[in-house]
Amino acid sequence: MEINLTTRLAVFVSGNGSNLQAILDAIRARLLEAEVVLVVSNRKAAFGLERAQKAGIPTLYFPLKPYRDADRSRAEYDADLAQKVRAYKPDYIVLAGWMHIFSNNFVKHFPYRIVNLHPALPGQFPGKDSIAEAFAAYQRGEIKKTGIMMHLAPDERVDAGPVLATVEVPIYASDTLEMLQNRMHQAEHRLLIQTLDRLIRGDE
Ligand code: GAR
Repeated sequence: MEINLTTRLAVFVSGNGSNLQAILDAIRARLLEAEVVLVVSNRKAAFGLERAQKAGIPTLYFPLKPYRDADRSRAEYDADLAQKVRAYKPDYIVLAGWMHIFSNNFVKHFPYRIVNLHPALPGQFPGKDSIAEAFAAYQRGEIKKTGIMMHLAPDERVDAGPVLATVEVPIYASDTLEMLQNRMHQAEHRLLIQTLDRLIRGDE
């Protein structure tokens, strides 16, 4: 009997999915010893879903709206999503641009197995507009640099949890927001793969 020990990743996206693509490219280039077994999106139009389909990876589009419309709670949404995802037996849940805040009803099913990528340094700019917020803070003279972090998400806190890795990203006076965004995305694609690689090797 053959035992498959490849680490199973479920990647959660809400938008473009450039970080999902970085994972898929790294796996294809054999820089990451893993398999993406499922891509989840809470938004139908997320380009990340197309990227997954193109790569032949199962996708799950799971919106919150039907729950809201039926007066059902986020906790129910989270519990149902956890059940669906558990069927794929992921070793790690990778939140790569996932813009939905999980309650414990999701988190408790994957203890210390949820990894979040966030485009800010620990303790700074939680939420969804972190790069623009950092850029504005730089313009006000409050910060000189920003950065990226990868952390475990063992509880309901937003963009917080045991930090796995960080990288600083400089902001320059000549930057436009778009220039900073591009620099940040390049940096996060690198940090994401390095950190996942370390996690996966640590599991061996
Ligand atoms: C990335 O910058 C990611 O760090 C951020 O969303 C973007 C998704 O880009 N995540 C958060 O802000 C989480 N709080 P992508 O869809 O191209 O990977």
